[in-house]
Amino acid sequence: MFDRSIKIAPSILSADFANLGAEIRAVEAEGADWIHVDPMDGHFVPNLTIGPNVVAAIRPHVKTFMDVHLMIAPADPYIEAFAKVGSDMITIHAESGPHLHRSLQAVRGFGKKAGVALNMTTPISHIEHILDAVDMVLIMTINPGFGGQKFTHSMVGKVRDMRRMIGDRPIHIQVDGGIDPTTAPLVAAAGADVLVAGSAVFKGGSVDTPQVYGDNMRAIRAAAEAAQA
Ligand code: DX5
Ligand code: ZN
Repeated sequence: MFDRSIKIAPSILSADFANLGAEIRAVEAEGADWIHVDPMDGHFVPNLTIGPNVVAAIRPHVKTFMDVHLMIAPADPYIEAFAKVGSDMITIHAESGPHLHRSLQAVRGFGKKAGVALNMTTPISHIEHILDAVDMVLIMTINPGFGGQKFTHSMVGKVRDMRRMIGDRPIHIQVDGGIDPTTAPLVAAAGADVLVAGSAVFKGGSVDTPQVYGDNMRAIRAAAEAAQA
């Protein structure tokens, strides 16, 4: 069931935090493939967002696939908590601790898919020898911490190099940061299949006008699919 078809993963960081359940139901009804959740610790990144209690509260609303991008260092003490509240994928930053392989094994030990995120300055060679422990590589296309930042074009080549390194392995490539209908085709052509988008999905819409979310996602998907290698 692994496949490289384009998957749109709205980041709920750009949703209305007072209305997360309804926001999730709205984007899923309009075609979201995954729901991307961004816990931040105010230490690894200069922002504080959500913890396991909020993830537990939104879990019943997620009917697709809950993709949890931990921007937390160290991540290890929190893996169990995020696993127990029903994450489907837990992504750990390569820079968040010295024993990345152990962290990834811990994620799989809870029966979850294991992702590894690379900050822009972290080379792909960092994970070359542990790819068997990985279900997804997240190539950051911004400095993590905030939505609405500008896409970094030099990351397109990094996605291409990562795609080549992965070869036939069943490993997704996710991109996160500044993805919209103009940048999506660049990363899709380079080999990314999971496209996180926050501001480009939620802009202009609300739970009362969910078709705007649908139009925003369809524009990203169409541009990416037309370009996919
Ligand atoms: C930022 C988060 C992203 C963020 C992306 O650190 O990891 O998921 O929400 O937002 P946009 O799509 O607006 O760049
Ligand atoms: Zn993210």
